[in-house]
Amino acid sequence: MVSYRLYCTLWILLCFGQYFGQDLQFPEPANGAVGESVVLAPVNPPSTSILVTQWTLIDSTLIIRVVSGVTTVNSSYEGRVRFDINTLALELQNLTLGDSGIYRLSVTTSAGEIRSGETSLQVFGQYFGQDLQFPEPANGAVGESVVLAPDNPPSTSFLVTQWTFNSIFIIIVASGVTTVNPAYEDRVSFDINTLALELQNLTLGDSGIFRLSVTTSAGEILTGETSLQVFEKNI
Ligand SMILES: *[C@@H]1O[C@H](CO)[C@@H](O)[C@H](O)[C@H]1NC(C)=O
Ligand SMILES: *[C@@H]1O[C@H](CO)[C@@H](O)[C@H](O)[C@H]1NC(C)=O
Ligand SMILES: *[C@@H]1O[C@H](CO)[C@@H](O)[C@H](O)[C@H]1NC(C)=O
Repeated sequence: MVSYRLYCTLWILLCFGQYFGQDLQFPEPANGAVGESVVLAPVNPPSTSILVTQWTLIDSTLIIRVVSGVTTVNSSYEGRVRFDINTLALELQNLTLGDSGIYRLSVTTSAGEIRSGETSLQVFGQYFGQDLQFPEPANGAVGESVVLAPDNPPSTSFLVTQWTFNSIFIIIVASGVTTVNPAYEDRVSFDINTLALELQNLTLGDSGIFRLSVTTSAGEILTGETSLQVFEKNI
């Protein structure tokens, strides 16, 4: 009977590839720089014993599968993944830009229950050659606020400062006069000293590339980009 049940759950897991619900939850989308490591871990790993655990990238690329204690790692991930059977955490090392995407964890418990959950990873390059640097891509939940601030605001005085989103202007400060795009009125604030832009009441449509450009009084133009990923609460 045991082997029959094992066979059935394996068959369901391997053949259907689609699971019910989002039972495994993740704290928030993950970020990591090229060459760094990141750990993807559910907040609620099942407390019952587990027959099959599988991590995939965007539903199809198998990364690691553990069946009754036997681990199979996709050879393209060999040497740069670690898996913790107790927490179900997947550690990805030596990140590349191609590691960005949706990661799915699915588990079959020994009671035959299938649980799954998804999280996303955004891998960013080192922003060489940009004058204004940002610590890392920002994340925020729908309805929340986020602050985008460069690490190195220029210490000289500025003539013009401008924030744009996907090439649409959000705010321009020219010689002390501030103009805000009406579409952003009441939900942005800007700090002229740090050049930080705060965006409030985030919507999914706020995900994208934000660009800051500054013209110093010496006529130099400095620019930098960062990205924002907005996610739904309680995925
Ligand atoms: C292993 O990973 C590569 C990409 O890194 C992917 O193309 C391939 O389909 C994966 N193998 C399996 C069995 O999913
Ligand atoms: C990580 O990348 C470095 C540099 O490309 C390489 O020397 C090293 O072998 C890689 N390690 C793994 C585990 O892939
Ligand atoms: C933020 O969203 C709430 C709910 O939709 C709304 O009542 C409020 O006016 C919004 N605030 C701003 C500043 O847009």
